[in-house]
Amino acid sequence: MSFIKKDYVKDFVVRLTVSRPEALNALNIDVIQELDDNLKDCINDDKVGVIILTGEGDKAFIAGADIKKMKTMNRDEAYDFGRKGQSLTKTIETSPKPVIAAVNGFALGGGCEISLACHIRIASDNAKFGQPEVLLGILPGWGGTQRLPRIVGYGIANEIITTGKMVSASEAHRIGLANHIVTTAELIPKCEEIAEEILKNGPNAIAQSLLCIRHSMGKDINSGLEFEVDRFSELFETDETKEGLSAFVEKRKPKFR
Ligand code: CAA
Repeated sequence: MSFIKKDYVKDFVVRLTVSRPEALNALNIDVIQELDDNLKDCINDDKVGVIILTGEGDKAFIAGADIKKMKTMNRDEAYDFGRKGQSLTKTIETSPKPVIAAVNGFALGGGCEISLACHIRIASDNAKFGQPEVLLGILPGWGGTQRLPRIVGYGIANEIITTGKMVSASEAHRIGLANHIVTTAELIPKCEEIAEEILKNGPNAIAQSLLCIRHSMGKDINSGLEFEVDRFSELFETDETKEGLSAFVEKRKPKFR
């Protein structure tokens, strides 16, 4: 049974849809594995430059890890399940191709954590974010305790995680959790519009920029600057950089892809 739909929606833009609507797209081991495999395929596919990740239907992005499966897990099984979810979020976060979360409803628990690993989050006006794990007597185990404070700040993350409350789309936008809010109908077009803007630019420059931003998280600025200047200068050996700089001087559009 397939839980992931893969659609090439425009040149170099692929949409991955988590499709388990009967459980509000909750993630069990099979869904996690299939999503991870699809993401890796997209990362290795020259026809893909930007990945849009969303959930089936108009109610949920992903309503979290599968609670019915977790109910029977012992400590070792929970460890493996936590590792699998963390590994999926790392695949997303380390993708050299931007991953845009189109958050079309509930993004709770593991669903919120998947969105946190994406490079950009766009919310529909009915989106609800949250880390309700403490309501279940567990904690956010797929990176929520690490990534949420980096995105919204320490104090707000502490409140969201310890209360387990849901965060509306407008609140998510206000605290920097969602980059934009749009209507449900505008959600995928808005993500495609951002993808098209990104695709005008050099793929290598994009990948190296994402790497520099990620590298600096949690490190001192000097080590980040050292890393950045190495990546910056390396680009000057690539045809892409020569093309971008020449195109400006020759007053024409660059041809990157
Ligand atoms: N796991 C398994 N099944 C889930 C689920 C989940 N996370 N979320 C929803 N479902 C199932 C429901 O059990 C229900 O199935 P049945 O019809 O078989 O009972 C179906 O999806 C529809 O859900 P509801 O009837 O509950 O729909 P609702 O509109 O009344 O409520 C909701 C929607 C508020 C999102 C509610 O479903 C809910 O609270 N879901 C759980 C959200 C949650 O706690 N997520 C965090 C999980 S823990 C986690 O993710 C840990 C981690 O860090 C990795």
